[in-house]
Amino acid sequence: MQFQWYPGHMTKAKRQMQEDIKLIDLIIELVDARAPLSSRNPDIDELGKQKARLVLMNKADLADAKKTEAWSAYFQDKGCFAVCIDARSRAGMKVIQHTILKACEEKLERDRRRGIKNRPVRAMVVGIPNVGKSTFINTYAGKACTKTGNKPGVTKGKQWIRLNKNVELLDTPGILWPKFEDQRVGLHLALIGSIKDEILNTDGLALELIGILTASYPGSLALRYGIEETRKAEEVLRAIAEARNCLGRGNELDYSKAAAIIVDEFRSGRTGRFTIEMPPKE
Ligand code: G4P
Repeated sequence: MQFQWYPGHMTKAKRQMQEDIKLIDLIIELVDARAPLSSRNPDIDELGKQKARLVLMNKADLADAKKTEAWSAYFQDKGCFAVCIDARSRAGMKVIQHTILKACEEKLERDRRRGIKNRPVRAMVVGIPNVGKSTFINTYAGKACTKTGNKPGVTKGKQWIRLNKNVELLDTPGILWPKFEDQRVGLHLALIGSIKDEILNTDGLALELIGILTASYPGSLALRYGIEETRKAEEVLRAIAEARNCLGRGNELDYSKAAAIIVDEFRSGRTGRFTIEMPPKE
């Protein structure tokens, strides 16, 4: 399967982000816990080289908890703080708050030494489309936050959300573009729903997904659809089409209908919690 994507405004967005990064202490990077590497753009490592880094593995409610732990260790090894979250719930917010301050300890210590008191840590949320940036900002900022207007020394027009006395967040997230050089990355992004479905071949996608799930999570499709898993993805697709009574014209089996069901139920977590990418062994 070939994936291609030519986003416009890429250079402009990057330049804007470079400017915004100058204003902050901490980069909060959201990735999708189901495919944490494919759902990030490594350019941020270069762009945010001088800054404290926090990786939030979002949509952890849809991912395999054990593998999320392995990913957490991977990001920590890279010098980032890492926390897994479900951005729609406020459950992990205390941990995030605590981790933000920990990640910025050096800056806070520097401020203390210079006699600067109560200067909040400034942070910015970044990530590729659909990883949950807006959801996170809405949940994290909640209703209690206050927006602060332009301040001296801050670029005109920037809005800061004051989360509490310690943390301020830039109200617009930085949008990164996924890197498509590797076709596996395109496949992972299509599976987690980050590429518009109109440009996708759902039948091919479902076959790839069947291949991944039968290899990494054997038995999960059998359990969900009451079928027998075989090594041939086409046979599994056929069995699911039969099990779900996917019929088209003339009562013929409609494989596309079955493919759409498989992809949809995977994305929504109804088939189970899966992580489709493992940390690279280095
Ligand atoms: P973005 O700003 O990075 O582009 O992402 P956004 O917040 O718009 O979130 C994209 C989709 O992901 C939304 O679903 C949102 O509800 C969902 N989402 C965000 N965080 C989580 C999470 O931790 N777990 C799960 N399961 N879903 C999450 P949508 O289908 O676009 O809208 P809706 O379903 O909320 O109506």
